[in-house]
Amino acid sequence: MIGAGYVGLVSGACFSEFGVNVTCVDTDKDKIERLTRGEMPIYEPGLDNLVLSNVRAKRLSFTTDLKAAVTGAEAVFIAVGTPSRRGDGHADLSYVYAAAREIAEALDGYTVVVTKSTVPVGTGDEVERIIREARPDADFDVVSNPEFLREGSAINDFMRPDRIVIGTESERAQEVMRHLYRVLYLIETPIVFTSRTTSELVKYAANTFLATKITFINEIADLCEKVGADVQDVARGIGLDGRIGRKFLHAGPGYGGSCFPKDTLALAKTARAAGIPLRIVETVIDINDERKKGIAEKVVAACGGSVAGKTIAVLGLTFKPNTDDMRDAPSLDIIPALQRAGATVRVFDPEGMSQAKALLNGVVWCDDAYETLIEADALTILTEWNEFRALDLERMKSLMKSPVMIDMRNIYDSSAMAEAGFRYASIGRPPVKPR
Ligand code: NAD
Ligand code: UGA
Repeated sequence: MIGAGYVGLVSGACFSEFGVNVTCVDTDKDKIERLTRGEMPIYEPGLDNLVLSNVRAKRLSFTTDLKAAVTGAEAVFIAVGTPSRRGDGHADLSYVYAAAREIAEALDGYTVVVTKSTVPVGTGDEVERIIREARPDADFDVVSNPEFLREGSAINDFMRPDRIVIGTESERAQEVMRHLYRVLYLIETPIVFTSRTTSELVKYAANTFLATKITFINEIADLCEKVGADVQDVARGIGLDGRIGRKFLHAGPGYGGSCFPKDTLALAKTARAAGIPLRIVETVIDINDERKKGIAEKVVAACGGSVAGKTIAVLGLTFKPNTDDMRDAPSLDIIPALQRAGATVRVFDPEGMSQAKALLNGVVWCDDAYETLIEADALTILTEWNEFRALDLERMKSLMKSPVMIDMRNIYDSSAMAEAGFRYASIGRPPVKPR
């Protein structure tokens, strides 16, 4: 497994749990040293136990020595990052191609080289060309096997996926892949065998569709606020239609994370380059960017039109709960906007604080939820961590300067908040006057 990040580490640990011998390789020495000591470089529920038990069983190991890991392997997964390329938004494939060049040098006997990283159409062809050029003698196939796991529920997503997509026309490679995934095959997980190009596109189409679904409900939420309707009932009312489905219809401050923002952009770029602009996708990207930039206004409005000189408490910094990942988190737009408007911002996140410290300046870092509330003029909840779902409302009121909550994740009941005496604003739900 080349790359021991969110995807490589989780996939490597899960494959080893399936009984496969896995070596995770990373160029980041510190990461490999920590893993070797049994420390997790990321926060992902359940990952520490899974890694430790498979290390003990000698099915999982870590190294910086790519050559040693690849030589003799039946399959080599490329799970390195594919971030947005600075300046133009295309996927930056330099890590993938660097890995391919190194893999080429180490190939020994028939090997299936699998791209698990999210890569644009045609990347598999280029990986094949790079390896073939470096090693005309090598016996290998290049397969696309995109990953659909979500951070925060990554292990369950990997162990019980809705489907597995495998892109290759080589029967020999298909056989190796079927064998690797045999545990899931036996529990009748659907496996979509297709061409490499199609498989690459499936991944972008999936992420883009989900981002579109979220953006759609976010716009409906804005309309609900104007006309006095309730977006959660709309979501339920449409989501119970099996053709629509209930998932990914939670309105919020805009999607973030390491993948939706960069993948929607990369697909739009690929499509433009192919002369088939995807106007829906381009619009989704614009709407979501504007939403994240503008949503601080909700806090300003709840504070009576200005936050200058006020103290705002923020709970939740990561882009979603159960991860420490801060990539493209809405908090990174909202907090600086509040600061520019003159607010002092007090923050807390259960797992994201150390990553956030490198990205946010001038905030007051607090040790728990209640500490953020001290003398606060308002609280906004940006991430729906479970521990923020049942805060002690009386204790909150005693700590805050005024009981104002802007709930960007709709995790509180509007009537109960009004009953408790809070001025409560949420996303796409009718306001209820405090009693
Ligand atoms: P990440 O940044 O967490 O990890 C990538 C790792 O690769 C880093 O540790 C880096 O040091 C290492 N690396 C880079 N070049 C290397 C090389 N030549 N040899 C060895 N290691 C190298 O990234 P991630 O979030 O795991 O994402 C990886 C890929 O998977 C991306 O394409 C992403 O779009 C895709 N993906 C991510 C998720 C997710 O939830 N994060 C889900 C599905 C797919
Ligand atoms: C997403 C996809 O769900 C995974 O299938 C995919 O493998 C992954 O991207 C990837 O390619 O990296 P992830 O980014 O970890 O997973 O998390 P999601 O649960 O999809 O959430 C993404 C963002 O959308 C978050 O900011 C979340 O708050 C937001 N979201 C999600 C909503 O605002 N509403 C929803 O209903 C769902």
